[in-house]
Amino acid sequence: MRNVAVDKAQYIAYPAPGAHPHRRDDEALPPHVIVLFGATGDLAKRKLIPGLAYLENSTFSPDIRVVATSLEDFTDEQFLAHAKQAIDQFATRQPTDEQWARFSGKVHYVPQAAGPEALAAAVAAAEAELGTDVRRLHYLSVPPKAAQAVITMLKDAGLVARSKVVMEKPFGTDLASAVELNQFVHKTFRESQIFRIDHFLGKEAAQNILAFRFANGLFEPIWNRNFIDHIQIDIPETLGLDQRADFYESTGAYKDMVVTHLFQVMAFVVMEPPTALEPRAISEEKNKVFRSMLPINPANVVRGQYQGYRQEKGVAPDSETETFIALTVGIDNWRWAGVPIYLRTGKRMAEGQRIISIAFKEAPRTMFPPASGVGEQGPDHLTFDLADESKVSLSFYGKRPGPGMRLEKLSMQFSTQETAEIADVMEAYERLILDAMRGDHTLFTTAEGIESLWERSAHLLEDPPMVKMYPQGTWGPNAIHQLIAPNAWRLPFERTWRE
Ligand code: BG6
Repeated sequence: MRNVAVDKAQYIAYPAPGAHPHRRDDEALPPHVIVLFGATGDLAKRKLIPGLAYLENSTFSPDIRVVATSLEDFTDEQFLAHAKQAIDQFATRQPTDEQWARFSGKVHYVPQAAGPEALAAAVAAAEAELGTDVRRLHYLSVPPKAAQAVITMLKDAGLVARSKVVMEKPFGTDLASAVELNQFVHKTFRESQIFRIDHFLGKEAAQNILAFRFANGLFEPIWNRNFIDHIQIDIPETLGLDQRADFYESTGAYKDMVVTHLFQVMAFVVMEPPTALEPRAISEEKNKVFRSMLPINPANVVRGQYQGYRQEKGVAPDSETETFIALTVGIDNWRWAGVPIYLRTGKRMAEGQRIISIAFKEAPRTMFPPASGVGEQGPDHLTFDLADESKVSLSFYGKRPGPGMRLEKLSMQFSTQETAEIADVMEAYERLILDAMRGDHTLFTTAEGIESLWERSAHLLEDPPMVKMYPQGTWGPNAIHQLIAPNAWRLPFERTWRE
């Protein structure tokens, strides 16, 4: 019998030179056929195909076969050429020729138009190559309106048994559609088989929020309204639409980013300590946060659209879709009552950043004269940078060396990039696909949580404020400043990060 672990060990050269990935989890997983719907779409190209190629060549993954499918009428060869191009362009770690050959030999393509029988036959052939006790992971990288047709196809193809299904966000487009989708999916799959993915929760930096808060005694005592003035979750992007006009036009920044990623990350920042690192305990605390959220008030929302958006291919000339959104959220519980949480995200903005910044209350009184610079650079901040090069920093006032007493902002920083474990960092999708294969729901979202979020969003969805135009390459419409006054946006950083 072939020893898979030893076999694979020689392929782990994927990470950067000098890296030393090691397997931390000895639990062997059964082989999986991964059925990838939307295999020629944008997400597959940027993340899923590069991620699957990396996983397949790593020691983490069980033996897999990929059955790729989409609306394109591709042959295996055509799909593989597409996949190779995607990896060349987007993979952060490039496979060697040998590694690519190893992965590509395990991928087959079936056009979705060939119907459920053809899909079932391709999966059966892949399973035959994998031996016994094979599981299935169906990855639905498709827009909300296509999800039901895919579920039906899986049912018709007889691919529900031994399977898990990963569903991409946004999960529905409002409360009614989310409830309907949940009910529809539940007719075919049990809740334990469903993995609603939010890739921000798979980012190392997002999980580090849990470690930071709940593995230390230092910060939790001050993690509340008595010490924290406000919180910002700010995710500007320089990216535009790329080829996603169709998806984006009917989605917009709120549904694409806020009701998904920003709220999920926010829950990690504000939830009560869970009783265990396991799905039920974590979901329970996150869902409590969503239930305590005040309904989003349209008066506390700035919707923006970058100039030139309406001229993009596939966009309506009178489109009201927002490419930018900033809003204030309130959590109405004992810990957070009265602490504003400011969220912002948008396309074609000045910088690509993903930060969470916690602003602490200022000292109640100060002996330092105004000319000392006290308070001049804003409050003390704790900042989580969720970028791929993730960082945590704490900024505070200190004395500038020299005569007199001049104060300036100093900062203590930790960067994962500077640690020996940097090679072990996994891309969010890789981590979550692996968790789904393992059946671990800890970092996935729940139907209840998503439904609460849509419910809290109802006023905004019914009565959205007009979109305000903003020039590309900026931080959004001017109204963002009034939205959070007298506070100020933490970005752009007044100081550059340590290189
Ligand atoms: C996706 C959104 O879920 O997240 C995109 O659909 C967005 O619009 C992307 O660009 C951002 O993810 P990341 O991991 O690149 O910050």
